[in-house]
Amino acid sequence: MSKKPVRVAVTGAAGQIGYALLFRIASGEMLGKDQPVILQLLEIPDEKAQKALKGVMMELEDCAFPLLAGMEAHSDPMTAFKDTDYALLVGSRPRGPGMERAELLAINGAIFTTQGKALNAVASRDVKVLVVGNPANTNAYIAMKAAPDLKPGNFTAMLRLDHNRAASQLAAKTGKAVSSIKKLAVWGNHSPTMYADYRFATIDGASVKDMINDQVWNKDVFLPTVGKRGAAIIEARGLSSAASAANAAIDHMRDWALGTNGEWVTMGIPSQGWYGIPKEVMFGFPVTCANGEYTVVEGLDIDAFSQECINKTLAELQGEQDGVKHLL
Ligand code: NAD
Ligand code: LMR
Repeated sequence: MSKKPVRVAVTGAAGQIGYALLFRIASGEMLGKDQPVILQLLEIPDEKAQKALKGVMMELEDCAFPLLAGMEAHSDPMTAFKDTDYALLVGSRPRGPGMERAELLAINGAIFTTQGKALNAVASRDVKVLVVGNPANTNAYIAMKAAPDLKPGNFTAMLRLDHNRAASQLAAKTGKAVSSIKKLAVWGNHSPTMYADYRFATIDGASVKDMINDQVWNKDVFLPTVGKRGAAIIEARGLSSAASAANAAIDHMRDWALGTNGEWVTMGIPSQGWYGIPKEVMFGFPVTCANGEYTVVEGLDIDAFSQECINKTLAELQGEQDGVKHLL
């Protein structure tokens, strides 16, 4: 094994997403089967959380993963993020039944200010950051603003779960394999306002829009199903999605680090003005990835219905940004 280990920080490491995520990172599913990793795990100082984290680490040890070159438990982001190359910010309060995302803003905003500052101070200058903790876009925006010495574009929010959910719904509707769906996009906020857009999507080269040819299904079934899937899972499980969220986090980081071979994926990234989205708004865009960089798919036609959907999710994000001004 010749590659130098990379450092991967994961916050909320003893939580339910953490439990579905860490074993996959350590087995090489995120950064490749030839890439050793050192896990730098952060939990709150609370005795119970730290004890649970030790238990997870015992299990990681018992897996004897050949790629796991080291692991550390932390209760302070200043040590957890030291020299880290990848940071998966999962730790925060999840939404409970009946709770709206906006309610989480107040609770979780402060966490991401502290963690953004810590990343700014001690992480690798090229650290790739993925925010999973909700409200993910705005938390990523807060962390980015708290880290002025790091590249803003290296702060991203997770829209991949929405992208994967949309792909599965389209596969079910068309009766085709989920892997055959290409050129899907999800615009905006990780919230019910996100706009999953299959106008450009293809299956074996054929247009998915033409195959479905039903705008009523799009508006009344597809978009609400994808947009409210998180709430539906909370309602069914009594807990928010965990394995599918961890899977989306793996997909997001793997594609960013290792590339997408020209395929489109969705990432929440700070806008540089693409498609009229104001600069710095942490917005879901279709991207391709190569050589550790993402590139927005530009030049797509935005019709009136799509523009209306994009405006709605943008307005929500700008409202959230306004709501956290005092933290910045
Ligand atoms: P969980 O409650 O099971 O675990 C969260 C863990 O984070 C807990 O162990 C807690 O102690 C820890 N934590 C809290 N504050 C912390 C801090 N400041 N530093 C480090 N650790 C901290 O929750 P979960 O189900 O794992 O969900 C985590 C977050 O992910 C929630 O905000 C949830 O809403 C969000 N989520 C996002 C998506 C997405 O698609 N973006 C999908 C599912 C869940
Ligand atoms: C999800 O989409 O499953 C998560 O963001 C959980 C939630 O609160 O909706």
